[in-house]
Amino acid sequence: MSHRWSLTVPPGLEAVAQAELSQLGVDGRPSPGAVLLSATLEEGAALARRLRTANRLMCEVVAGKAHSLEGLAALVRSADWRPFLRLRDPMELAVHVEESRLGRKDVIEKKVLHAIHDQLRAAPALSVPSSRPHRAQHLQLRVVGDAVSLSIDAGGERLGVRGWRQAQGKAPLRENLAASLLLLAGWAGDEPLLDPFCGAGTIPIEAALLAAGEPPGGGRPYAMESWPALQGVTPSRRRAPSGLRPLITGSDNYAPALADAAENAERAGASVEWLRADIADPPTPAATGLVVTNPPYGLRLGHSVDGVYRAFGRALSGPLRGWRALFLCPDQRLARLVHPRAFALTGFSNGGVRVSAWAVDPQG
Ligand SMILES: C[S@@+](CC[C@H](N)C(=O)[O-])C[C@H]1O[C@@H](n2cnc3c(N)ncnc32)[C@H](O)[C@@H]1O
Repeated sequence: MSHRWSLTVPPGLEAVAQAELSQLGVDGRPSPGAVLLSATLEEGAALARRLRTANRLMCEVVAGKAHSLEGLAALVRSADWRPFLRLRDPMELAVHVEESRLGRKDVIEKKVLHAIHDQLRAAPALSVPSSRPHRAQHLQLRVVGDAVSLSIDAGGERLGVRGWRQAQGKAPLRENLAASLLLLAGWAGDEPLLDPFCGAGTIPIEAALLAAGEPPGGGRPYAMESWPALQGVTPSRRRAPSGLRPLITGSDNYAPALADAAENAERAGASVEWLRADIADPPTPAATGLVVTNPPYGLRLGHSVDGVYRAFGRALSGPLRGWRALFLCPDQRLARLVHPRAFALTGFSNGGVRVSAWAVDPQG
């Protein structure tokens, strides 16, 4: 049976997520902050383990109209919750309400959770092996006017949290954003990659996992592992053999960041070369390749980073001439210090800061 799923991403990155889905053989339809798709529970579970760009993957269980709290409860009870939940599973419900007269969020939350429990109590439970792990289940209710959609989160914890990044500095990039930048740059794992502002190593580590065809979340737990409908479905552990072993380098001028990066890479099983270098004298691992990086924005400490961006520009026109580049930056003035013809591919929010992904073409 097919379900409707929503893969959520920061607004601005829908097309990248849609392209990733398409590489996985799935048609998706972009909608603001999400890509919508149809899949069975087994297919959705496999996607949750493979998607690199997604924040979350949500399965819609209830969709319809509700004009009153009682109507909402009846709608929730009309769905079969047994494939997803058992009575004693810990549940959390996030409620988003727009232009609705259903009342206060806390009242709605209570009503919906009661309705789910009523349905689970009334129907005979599915038989499920007792070894099934108990994981907290996260549900999301969206009410816009009379339209209601109630979904359950396949990951529980955001899919962007892979598990290997335990050491990090003050401004780490979310792992799924790092993967999105690599896909946005069209990196397929077949050319050298350099991040000269690598910090805790997020971009190079995501790159190494992508090139090797390793699942992004490795052995992390997923909430869906305790859905009754998925018991007896063993996740495929087969790695897609890519045969690609590109040269991946991360450099930074701050030694503690490199120690974090090396520690994270070891946990992830990622093969990356780490080097201490200032952008004024960057490593040149190969004659050509791709630079993907997240330079400092200078916002937290409030000091000028113009010199860093100018030095990055000199690196691209000097030692790294011939390399393509894609970098994140919050403003056009700074981006143009790197290259006068740097162009923005898309914009999105990175930890509350509005940034764009800027591309520099060596032929440009
Ligand atoms: C925004 S952080 C990068 C975060 C990284 N993407 C991550 O996920 O952890 C910017 C990094 O640039 C480094 N950096 C700042 N100035 C530099 C310079 N002149 N040369 C090389 N690295 C520099 C900082 O040490 C910091 O680790």
